Amino acid sequence: MLCISIKEFLFWKKKQLSKGGDQQSFTFLIDCIGGISTSDLNSLTINPEGKLYLKKNLYYLESIWDNYLLHSTPIQYLCGVTFWRDLKLRVTDKVLIPRPETELVIDIVHGIFGNKSQKLFFVELGTGSGAISIALALKFPMWEGIATDIDQDVLEVAKENYVSSSEKSNLKFCCGHWWTPLESFKGKLDLVISNPPYIPKDIYEKLPKAVKKFEPKIALIGGEDGLEHISEIIQKAPLYLRKKGWLILENHFDQAEKVKKLLIKNKFTSVEIVNDFSGVGRFTIGRYK
Ligand SMILES: C[S@@+](CC[C@H](N)C(=O)[O-])C[C@H]1O[C@@H](n2cnc3c(N)ncnc32)[C@H](O)[C@@H]1O
Repeated sequence: MLCISIKEFLFWKKKQLSKGGDQQSFTFLIDCIGGISTSDLNSLTINPEGKLYLKKNLYYLESIWDNYLLHSTPIQYLCGVTFWRDLKLRVTDKVLIPRPETELVIDIVHGIFGNKSQKLFFVELGTGSGAISIALALKFPMWEGIATDIDQDVLEVAKENYVSSSEKSNLKFCCGHWWTPLESFKGKLDLVISNPPYIPKDIYEKLPKAVKKFEPKIALIGGEDGLEHISEIIQKAPLYLRKKGWLILENHFDQAEKVKKLLIKNKFTSVEIVNDFSGVGRFTIGRYK
C-alpha cells in the first residue's frame, strides 16, 4: 500500500479527467486497481488535509488511463475485471464483458421457479465470463448446472470466476458447439438459458470502435439476420428439454417477435416476451409442451 496526501491525489485526479474519458470509467479504474471504492473516492474532498492508501502508484494508474484514452480499450479489459449483479468477474479479451441488461435474466428465472428448493438441472449455452451460470449456481445452491462455450479459453476464465465466487461444486463446464456437448443429457434439462451472438452482420459493422476492436466477434455476430444461432438453439431444444422444461433466450432489441414465432413454430407453449429496464423486448421465454 502506498500512502499519499489526499491533496496530491485530488490534483492528479483533476489532471487525468481533464485529458478526457468519463467519470464512471475513472472511478472503475481507481476502485479496481487503486483500491479506493467509489464512495471513499467521492468523500475525499471532506478531508483534503488527510492521507489515503493506494494499491498501485499514480504512474501506474496514469499509464492505464492513458492507454484507455488513446485506444478506447474498454476499461474492464484494462483492469481485467468487471462487476455484474453482485459478482466481481475476471475478463480477458476472449470474453464478452457481461452487460447490465442481461442481469435481469436471473430475476426472470427467479420469477418462474421462485424459491423452490427442489433439485433442478439447468444449462447455459455460451457462458462467456460465466456470469449467468455462476449467479444461478449461487442463488440456487441445490440446483445442478452445466455452462458451455465453443471456446476452451473462455471456459477457463468462467471456471476461474466460479472457483473464486463459490465454494460449492454445483456447476460444471463443457466445451462445444451449442447442444453438441450435451448428448448424454437429452430429455433431462429443466431449464436452458442462452444469450447467444445475435447481432446482424450489417449492424455489427456500425458498432462503436471499443466493441468492434476489442470484444470477441464470435460472441456478437449472429449471421446475416442475427437469428442464425437463436434458430439453431430453438430447433434442437425439444430434444434436450424435459417435458415442460423452460428455454430463456436473450435477443437483439428488435428480434423478440421473430423469436416468439420461432418458439411457437417449434411447439413451445407459454411463450412470452420480457422487457428489459428500458422497455425493450430483450428476452423471449417458453416451455416445451
Ligand atoms: C453474447 S456472448 C454471451 C456471454 C455470456 N453468457 C453473457 O451473457 O455475458 C455469446 C457467447 O457464446 C459463445 N459462442 C459463440 N458461438 C458459439 C457456439 N457455436 N457454440 C457455443 N458457444 C458459442 C461465445 O464464445 C460467447 O461466449
